[in-house]
Amino acid sequence: VPSGSLEIRELPILSQAGDDRPLRFSLIIPTYQEAKNVKKLVHKCNKLLKREIPGEYEIIVVDDNSPDGTWEIAQNLMSEYPQLRVMRRVEERGLSTAVIRGWQVARGEVLGVIDGDLQHPPKTLLELWGEIKRGGDMAVASRNAEGGGVSKWSIVRRFLSRGAQILGLILLPGVVGRVSDPMSGYFMVRRKCLIGCTMSPLGYKILIEVLARGRVPWIGEVGYQFKERLEGESKVTAKQYIDYLRHLLRLRLSLGPIGRLLRFGVVGFSGVFVDMAVFYLLRIHLGLGLTRSTILSAEVAIFNNFLWNDLWTFGDIARRQPGKRQRFRRFLKFNTVCLAGIILQTLLVNLFFNVFGMNQFVAKLVAIAAIVFWNFWLNLKLSWRV
Ligand code: GDD
Ligand code: MN
Repeated sequence: VPSGSLEIRELPILSQAGDDRPLRFSLIIPTYQEAKNVKKLVHKCNKLLKREIPGEYEIIVVDDNSPDGTWEIAQNLMSEYPQLRVMRRVEERGLSTAVIRGWQVARGEVLGVIDGDLQHPPKTLLELWGEIKRGGDMAVASRNAEGGGVSKWSIVRRFLSRGAQILGLILLPGVVGRVSDPMSGYFMVRRKCLIGCTMSPLGYKILIEVLARGRVPWIGEVGYQFKERLEGESKVTAKQYIDYLRHLLRLRLSLGPIGRLLRFGVVGFSGVFVDMAVFYLLRIHLGLGLTRSTILSAEVAIFNNFLWNDLWTFGDIARRQPGKRQRFRRFLKFNTVCLAGIILQTLLVNLFFNVFGMNQFVAKLVAIAAIVFWNFWLNLKLSWRV
């Protein structure tokens, strides 16, 4: 498998499972400096899966060109394990992107991930698979579910781990609160839950990204004991904690309406300049009448705003409704909402000025503010329906 050299910001999950015959399950093993662990882990996982779903799975090691030659060891195992594939990434690094890259080339209907250092007991794979078989959209191995735990963690480490979880609960209750161990890097998810979703993970916590961006109505959990590392070293440094915080904040902004409303505001602001520029052009250079110029320039501004909103403000939604026809429908709706907004604004200004006796400029300002919200909500609910 060739390594991807693309910049990762947007990671669409392929709609179809690879070019070959689809498999039932793809297990990703992300590795960095796991030369002493990879062989044993591949052996154990393969043995379990071979018994459970013979010929219907694959194991993909995604190694970031480890100096200790983990990728080479894995590649040499391929003759012994026909279900094994190895991706050696040269230009990209990072745990979360490694997992997504693996999933992008995976052929399985169910996508899974397990740490490459044997801290995740392979036998839990069967219990996770059991949850999927029962109909789960996702199965998460949890240290906090029944039968789960950590071996010999210090008070400080436990405190940090819990603190991170609580922080997540405060910032993203609807995401982090859905599982008992949101930090887990040991889970399975059905491909169909991720199709069309754009993942832009940051740092270590891929599960949070999947929970936030995917559609996973039913989540099963399985308790597991997080083992001590016997070989190699953990790659966790202070950077991972900072990345985690950035990840949470980024999700908070992109999930709630706040970030969207801000983008909508920026686009609206750009529309004012487009409107003025076109108005100037029509009046001064083409000598068009005042009313015609006003209508035409407003329409050009609406078109400008639509394009930016469709690409940026509501880009994530628009990408789920592809095609020129769909885009044109969204444009018609957007246009209608905006025109209705202009009429409503006129009514409001009149009401504030004539009935309430407001200052005319204050009246206009309040009306504009009201219309921004009107436009935002109606377009969110009608044009880009969520
Ligand atoms: N490809 C690749 N690239 N793999 C990586 C990278 C990277 O940049 N960094 C780490 N890994 C691999 C490691 O080789 C290991 O197999 C796994 O990712 C986890 O890394 P550790 O450094 O061992 O992290 P940990 O022991 O603290 O595990 C914590 O994070 C895991 C991942 O989210 C725990 O919270 C686990 O529960 C969790 O699964
Ligand atoms: Mn580890």
